[in-house]
Amino acid sequence: MAKELSGEVYYPSEEVINYARIKDWEELNEFAKKNPLKFWSNEAEELHWFKKWDKVLDDSNKPFYKWFTGARTNIVYNCLDVHLKTHRRNKLALIWEGENGDWRTMSYHALHRETCKFANVLRSMGVQKGDRVTIYMGRIPEIVIAMLATARIGAIHSVVYGGFSVESLAERIEDSQSKVLIVADGAYQRGKIVQLKKIADEALERCGTVEHVLVVKRTGQEINMESGRDMWYHELMNLPIANNTCTLEEMDSEDPLFILYTSGTTGKPKAILHTHGGYMVGIYTSLKYVFDIHEEDRYWCAADPGWITGHSYIVYGPLLNGATSFLYEGAPNFPYPNRWWQMIEKYGINILYTAPTAIRGLMRFGEAWVKRHNLSSLRLLGSVGEPINPEAWRWYYKVVGNEKCPIMDTWWQTETGMFMITPMPCVPLKPGSGTRPFPGIEMDVVDEQGNPVGPNEEGYLVIKTPWPAMIRTVYNDPDRYVNQYWSRYPGMYLTGDSAKKDEDGYFWIIGRVDDVIKVSGYRLGTAEIESALVSHPAVAEAAAIGLPHEVKGNAIYAYVILRNGYEKSNALIDELKQHVSHEVGPIAKPEHIEFVDSLPKTRSGKIMRRVLKAKALGQDPGNISTLDE
Ligand code: WT7
Repeated sequence: MAKELSGEVYYPSEEVINYARIKDWEELNEFAKKNPLKFWSNEAEELHWFKKWDKVLDDSNKPFYKWFTGARTNIVYNCLDVHLKTHRRNKLALIWEGENGDWRTMSYHALHRETCKFANVLRSMGVQKGDRVTIYMGRIPEIVIAMLATARIGAIHSVVYGGFSVESLAERIEDSQSKVLIVADGAYQRGKIVQLKKIADEALERCGTVEHVLVVKRTGQEINMESGRDMWYHELMNLPIANNTCTLEEMDSEDPLFILYTSGTTGKPKAILHTHGGYMVGIYTSLKYVFDIHEEDRYWCAADPGWITGHSYIVYGPLLNGATSFLYEGAPNFPYPNRWWQMIEKYGINILYTAPTAIRGLMRFGEAWVKRHNLSSLRLLGSVGEPINPEAWRWYYKVVGNEKCPIMDTWWQTETGMFMITPMPCVPLKPGSGTRPFPGIEMDVVDEQGNPVGPNEEGYLVIKTPWPAMIRTVYNDPDRYVNQYWSRYPGMYLTGDSAKKDEDGYFWIIGRVDDVIKVSGYRLGTAEIESALVSHPAVAEAAAIGLPHEVKGNAIYAYVILRNGYEKSNALIDELKQHVSHEVGPIAKPEHIEFVDSLPKTRSGKIMRRVLKAKALGQDPGNISTLDE
């Protein structure tokens, strides 16, 4: 490293650099900066295309950028089929452990076979290219198979995280107009069964598009099977139509691969759309360089397939790279706080990628739980979802990584599809900073007018160049795509985060500047929580904010105005918490509910959450000139 960096810096060891694929980040970055399109097309050349592209980037209709136009491919071909002709055919694609101790492994050959069989099942139900299929399951191998099978036949998957509940599922099915729902009977979580099928049945009463429900048996408890609508996955997979081979749909590079709902500033969650071609190139490249997966590695991304982290870096990224991926169904501390460390030792995991909230949660139990296990297989660690506080970073580095594993703190979003600010193993680290943008991507911190701010000054985080895995649109709502991301500063993508850049060009994320709350790394909108609250008969009005929480990062605080005739009581508080949990999901359950007689609003009637937050924290609310009364 030529330059001395300021602050607390962790330089990579000789050993780390020698083993790393990229030994000189500056060189790679310099090349990508000079010729970003060449950088991306070189990467694309490493993948299979039925027909090569005419153009790497088509920016003739900004901000509706298109990548690898004219090319024909299917991401699933690159995830599975290409490996069957190589030594990877019998390599493990997936190692799975259930919370109750069940386990399964699947080679590339087996995952290809199961995917083909299920793709044939879906085709036999009439699913065609462009149709939407909703998937609602826990962390079991079938969620991977369902996603790949859907994409193989050119349909669009919409995975709804298994921690969401009735209303969240219903509105996502309704918005996507899915005709098929793939669900599990239940999921094990902290020793209990989450009643996924029961929740789905209730959701289906609220929306009317689904014709077929395909049910995976995981927990085996008694469930309702509606005749004519519900069918067992394992029975379908035994029918003659579930052939081992299935012709793959050749897709245009820009054809949709999936939609994934995420919370925004206002209103309902929006469906972020990603495509086969550019998304594939973006996540293949970023995973290859950042987690630097070697052929013999075992890689574990502990996220859920139901979020973008799982889509990109549990399912598609590792398979594109021919990696062996580990998937674990349950809670990190079940039955004891050593569960994760036990599995790392048992399976010889080399790379662990998780969220700050999980690290803080496990940190609380003390390092003795970690130290009972031999974690010497670990080579790299990762963090994602929210800023990691330096204290948690140091614990992760020292106790889990034994001071030899660099931590890849990756900043990105559902919308970016891929890592955007991230180190690579050879990059000097500063605890709490994701270092610099990935090669080929230009980002900055700007003021209200869109001008770059000085070093260590706070501003809005923006992206200044298009990138292959970028969001293409909000499904069925292109105006929202333009307004939300591209209207504040023309030509720049607005991330919704505030950040600082230090004198070394390292980025430091501060947090969201909109009405999105990050709870345990999960992205929730104040609007979703508030609308769940007002759907309860006792509630006239509600406001939700996020306040700092030691383990969760942020916790939800809700302020509620009761309707006439309802009495304030602790029982009602519990009932309202339960109601939000039932409608949106346990992750959205408010930590604290307070009854109030009025809410701070602007003269046009918008709730000023900023004022509520300042008051709760005992801070100065700042400019309140627009406050009514
Ligand atoms: C928001 C996006 C992308 C995977 C998971 C989240 C926050 C994400 C980091 C990080 C600081 C981070 C941002 C971002 N965020 N990663 N490494 N450091 N903040 O995806 O649910 O779309 O949320 O998560 O606020 O905008 P998401």
